[in-house]
Parts: sequence; C-alpha cells; structure tokens
Amino acid sequence: MSLINVIDFKSLGDERGELVSIENNKNIPFEIKRVYYVFKTQKGVARGFHAHKELRQVAICISGSCKFIMDNGKVKESFVLDDPQKGLYINKMQWREMHEFSDDCVLLVLASDVYDESDYIRDYADFIQMVN
Ligand code: TYD
Repeated sequence: MSLINVIDFKSLGDERGELVSIENNKNIPFEIKRVYYVFKTQKGVARGFHAHKELRQVAICISGSCKFIMDNGKVKESFVLDDPQKGLYINKMQWREMHEFSDDCVLLVLASDVYDESDYIRDYADFIQMVN
C-alpha cells in the first residue's frame, strides 16, 4: 500500500471563488480534536522528523507548497502538497519530514487528538526498532 494517501476535498466554489468545508468523520477519517498550522517557515528549514504512536493527522497546504517525505521504516515516498483541495493523510507509526516550504506556505494540520509529547517518537533509530 502506498504511503501517500491523499484526500481530495470537493470544492463548493462557484463564480465567486472556491470554498472547502471539512467536517468531523465526514471527509476526514477521524474526529478532529486539534488544529494547528505552520507558517513563515524560514528558508532552508525542514520540520517534522518524528512519528506518532497513535496520532493520526491530515495536512493541508492552504497556501503555497511544501514537500512531505513519508517513511514507514521500509520505504520512503515523497509528495508535494501544493493544492488547498488536497489533504495528506498521515497514519500512526509513519515517520514524516517536511521540506522545501515556499515563503507563502501555510500548512494546516488536523489531528485526531490533543498534543501529547509522550505520543511522539523523535528518535529515528527507536522508530526503526518499533516498526521491525
Ligand atoms: P515540533 O514538534 O517541533 O513541530 P514540527 O513537527 O513541525 O517540527 O513542535 C514545535 C513546538 O511546539 C514543540 O515544543 C512542541 C510544541 N507543540 C505544541 O505545544 N502543540 C502542538 O499541537 C504542536 C504540534 C507542537
């Protein structure tokens, strides 16, 4: 199965422009408990470099673009998020890195749970051990 699971959001747009609506358990495969966004990322900065034991997330680039590298410990796949109508579904136990943020990138993330540092796996060697 591909590591890149993209959700296509239907636009409710008309001649005035586009509009995407996201609802719990409807076009997102979990109940949204937290929303955060990353913006004004400085040139050359990469973020992420962790996996989650349980947390599931959907990342949407609502402005600009950035590149995700997804890694399940066996294969790595990359995907450029550059369309506010596309969400990248990030399952639990997937190592992720975000690179190449455009100056105007606003990366919105919907999460299945509240922030919990104990759910993070921040050491790549630990991650590899846990998935093998
Ligand atoms: P960090 O995990 O480094 O972000 P990224 O995955 O984009 O590299 O998060 C930066 C800081 O913000 C870190 O101290 C944890 C904190 N944080 C929260 O308090 N709540 C949150 O919802 C998130 C995502 C991070």
